[in-house]
Amino acid sequence: MTDLTAYIAGLPKAELHLHIEGSLEPELMFELAQRNGVSIPFDSVEAVRAAYDFSNLQDFLDIYYAGANVLLTRQDFEDLAFAYFQRAAADNVRHAEIFFDPQTHTDRGVAFGVVVEGLIAGMDRAKTELGVTSGLILSFLRHLTEEEAFATLEMAKPYLHHFIGVGLDSSEVGHPPSKFVRVFAAARELGLKLCAHAGEEGPPAYVHEALDLLHIDRMDHGNRSMEDESLIQRLSAEQMTLTVCPLSNLKLCVVKDLKDHPVPEMLRRGLHVTLNSDDPAYFGGYVNANYIRLAEAVGLSKEQVTEMAKNSFEGSFLPDAQKLKYMAEVDAYAA
Ligand code: ADE
Ligand code: ZN
Repeated sequence: MTDLTAYIAGLPKAELHLHIEGSLEPELMFELAQRNGVSIPFDSVEAVRAAYDFSNLQDFLDIYYAGANVLLTRQDFEDLAFAYFQRAAADNVRHAEIFFDPQTHTDRGVAFGVVVEGLIAGMDRAKTELGVTSGLILSFLRHLTEEEAFATLEMAKPYLHHFIGVGLDSSEVGHPPSKFVRVFAAARELGLKLCAHAGEEGPPAYVHEALDLLHIDRMDHGNRSMEDESLIQRLSAEQMTLTVCPLSNLKLCVVKDLKDHPVPEMLRRGLHVTLNSDDPAYFGGYVNANYIRLAEAVGLSKEQVTEMAKNSFEGSFLPDAQKLKYMAEVDAYAA
């Protein structure tokens, strides 16, 4: 283990971009398929992993939504969440703000409450058994209509106190932020924070829309902002937190090689970058693997790694006092 690898392993960090359905490891997928009598189109764990060879976002999403079919009961969602938190705790993640896609489940007949109660049970266990705190972000599927997003927000109302925010994910190209202006405004009225995937595959114009029309508090990915000088300056001036996901970008061919990853340039231009795992069961690594593989590929310094860990707490939706406490822990570790 290099010095920097060991340093990253012990660094306190938050994870701000994690789809809980994307943490479903093939082993758990098989276990849940058997437990629930659901058939999956694979003979073995190895065959599942071999199928994870994607050439773009849609390739991945097709397999990711199929994988989620094994999730049916409250216990399934609790097991899924707790398995993620065990991995996260092993990576010294102290706080995680996790996305879930309610429509992926309600459209299969799984009740909204089953999903939320299961995830919350897993999150409660993470706090008491692992000391990892967390928040839940309800993400709308952008390939569906705004009307369907509104129906989902309506289902969420009895559970509102469980959510810290809303997000926007799934197939980006062809589904710009402008499609969801009204439902994002309604979510804001309910006191929720706003995130959106923007500039992962979509053009810089979509990033402008996420800022100008959705008024997001945090941007997921944001890679293609680097094609637009005015965006770079704006994101820097506004100190917008970007939840960047290097191994996801590699697996989904957003970058050809990790050596070409924009993080060093983002940092150089003063962007508020954080590193995250996105869908770790599908992309080959949890948060520490994202730090380590990127650091190896582009030659990150200890200072840059520390800056991103601090950004992860600063860019979280925690109360200010808690942010400061965690950021001081990062400083103490770095010293
Ligand atoms: N859903 C899960 N992971 C995603 C990603 N990287 N982009 C868009 N939607 C997603
Ligand atoms: Zn994502």
